[in-house]
Amino acid sequence: MITVKKARLCYVLLGILLGCSCSDVSRDEAAEMDRFVTELMGKMTLHEKLGQLNLPSGGDMVTGTVMNGELSDMIRKQEIGGFFNVKGVRRINALQRLAVEESRLKIPLLVGADVIHGYETIFPIPLALSCSWDTLAIERMARISAIEASADGINWTFSPMVDICRDARWGRIAEGSGEDPYLGSLMARAYVRGYQGNSLQGNDEILACVKHFALYGASESGRDYNTVDMSRLRMYNEYLAPYKAAVDAGVGSVMSSFNIIDGIPATANKWLLTDLLRDEWSFGGLLVTDYNSIAEMASHGIAPLKEASVRALKAGTDMDMVSCGFLNTLEESLKEGKIMEDQINTACRRVLEAKYKLGLFSNPYKYGDTLRVKEQLYTAEHRSAARAIASETFVLLKNENHLLPLGLKGKIALVGPMADARNNMCGMWSMACTASRHGTLLEGIRSAAGDKAEILYAKGSNVYEDAEMEKAAAGIRPLEHEDNRKLLDEALRVASRADVIVAALGECAEMSGESASRTNLEIPDAQQNLLKALLKTGKPVVLLLFTGRPLVLNWEDANVHSILNVWFGGSETGDAVADVLFGKVTPSGKLTTTFPRSVGQLPLFYNHLNTGRPDPDNRVFNRYASNYLDESNEPLYPFGFGLSYTDFVYGDLQISSETLPKNGELTASVTVTNKGNYDGYETVQLYLRDIYAEVARPVKELKGFERIFLKSGESCDVKFVITEDDLKFYNSELHYIYEPGEFEIMIGTNSRDVKTKCFIAK
Ligand code: BGC
Repeated sequence: MITVKKARLCYVLLGILLGCSCSDVSRDEAAEMDRFVTELMGKMTLHEKLGQLNLPSGGDMVTGTVMNGELSDMIRKQEIGGFFNVKGVRRINALQRLAVEESRLKIPLLVGADVIHGYETIFPIPLALSCSWDTLAIERMARISAIEASADGINWTFSPMVDICRDARWGRIAEGSGEDPYLGSLMARAYVRGYQGNSLQGNDEILACVKHFALYGASESGRDYNTVDMSRLRMYNEYLAPYKAAVDAGVGSVMSSFNIIDGIPATANKWLLTDLLRDEWSFGGLLVTDYNSIAEMASHGIAPLKEASVRALKAGTDMDMVSCGFLNTLEESLKEGKIMEDQINTACRRVLEAKYKLGLFSNPYKYGDTLRVKEQLYTAEHRSAARAIASETFVLLKNENHLLPLGLKGKIALVGPMADARNNMCGMWSMACTASRHGTLLEGIRSAAGDKAEILYAKGSNVYEDAEMEKAAAGIRPLEHEDNRKLLDEALRVASRADVIVAALGECAEMSGESASRTNLEIPDAQQNLLKALLKTGKPVVLLLFTGRPLVLNWEDANVHSILNVWFGGSETGDAVADVLFGKVTPSGKLTTTFPRSVGQLPLFYNHLNTGRPDPDNRVFNRYASNYLDESNEPLYPFGFGLSYTDFVYGDLQISSETLPKNGELTASVTVTNKGNYDGYETVQLYLRDIYAEVARPVKELKGFERIFLKSGESCDVKFVITEDDLKFYNSELHYIYEPGEFEIMIGTNSRDVKTKCFIAK
């Protein structure tokens, strides 16, 4: 086995990861890594170097259409640099053993996986997590995910996904942190810190991979894998910040995206992968493609595999996920003079450096630990964190006459296809978990009710009326499709005995996530029929909404008494929902994605530019103003929106001065009082608007927030300090500057309901 000086390695990584290039120690250690990798590469054949660039899928969890050949053979021949999609410490260690005991140079393997919102303990989907606005909670969830995944042998997670998305048709909106670049950047940093820890040296600190670089969330028409065409100005001001934040936080790897940018797939886009990522942002880590995307360049109309591989390598790609183009074609392309050996060497060096940074050369089995698997997976501590975090992510969208929280008394009917669907609680990226160990919503609610309230249950409906439609929507997590009429009759019988009805409806887990775009964003037909029938009983109805994306809920908002959006809350959904439903926890989630009134409004987002003809009244139709004949411009629920059981009252907005002096600061503050009957968290939001600038600026942009806890009756002054940095944007020459002039400052409980003042920046 190849050895390195372990003690000094810590410094290397600290230096590299924390960007302390000025320190002599880190420079020494970087030199040590360099020396080690150079020596190793000196022993490698060209074929072995190409092997390092090859990342096949192990095939347990298939996320695309391609399967690779026999892993063991490839490992022995050193034809792979790592693999992903294999679960289980014994299997992973056995594969690692082949690499370090049976291959010529004994180079350990990267072991990747999509550990996106948990491993065995599953947390809410990322979109939900972002609605907590709690970066520490996100860091904690990433830390726990890394602890669990690393015990099982995984050393590399394909997370965080930071694609800004403004179009709810795109199913992958579920995987990111919503529509805002400022919030998205904070979340990106929190994920990276959580996964990678301080130094990557701990046996539970794993390599993070920010994805999908770049702009994948802007796929045309919300259709997955679709084209993106965007001005540089928009990219820099509205989409790139979260990727950059992850890079600045020291993320060890980046995954390029499936989409085309400026006519060239991201996978082979030199401007993106080299000029921007490497040169402008100084990213020195590993760059991997997305699943089979080199081969997919043929369908893009760019080139067949061999030439596509050349283009991807030359653009700056290091590792080829699944397509095997690097392994099988680059040797010949080198002979033909289409690439240079240096280009292969650079990519190979980056793969080896990633392994070195992880400490795999010192101990290839650092990450797989059968004892840790027994002790550290799905522990009581992890589950309790997941439960607490899940309850922070739920968003109360409506609560007429304070119907919620429910009292623990009488008869409560829990109805709906999501009420007892164990395999659908977790959301899309939870293939690795053991769903049979998780409770259902029904179990969580029954256990909270104990003998104080009687919980009646009926499934009530299928997901869709049509069995084929439901089969497609449910994907790998099928639900039993039963007779719609019988289900409804039974639900109505159950409801007739109840004092209050809780309807657990919405999307099933696989209706969002990859390859789950929708053109109709309503609750599926069978469930809508059920909801309407339940409301006809005249009893109070709570809609517990399961969804991975914003839905169109106009009818529900007008007719249902209370709506609690619980997204997909992870393995502890049942208990977490019960905590909020019965008032043990006051809901505090705030939307990080706008809920539209109609699919026709999409893309819809709060931080838009104004037209020359804005519609001041936001009416339905106002001729010659920028609006629609048949719908207002307003969302149903705006960005930042979320109610509480308690009542937060905002005092007047105060600013320390009407001028922000050059190099100075200005303080904006507001007093928030909890005038309701419950203790709870409130997220106070700060927005700014640059009234006139060289390039048009958004009507408002989030620039800060504070998540405060107030007991009933308590008040708190919330202060935000504003400096020039908060006013900066990219101008038409892509210089990051601020322009002196007039600004609006807005503070409020969501992006719509704000108090406003103006100031002049000098
Ligand atoms: C997805 C990535 C994922 C990869 C590996 C792809 O289809 O786009 O997000 O990391 O598969 O599973």
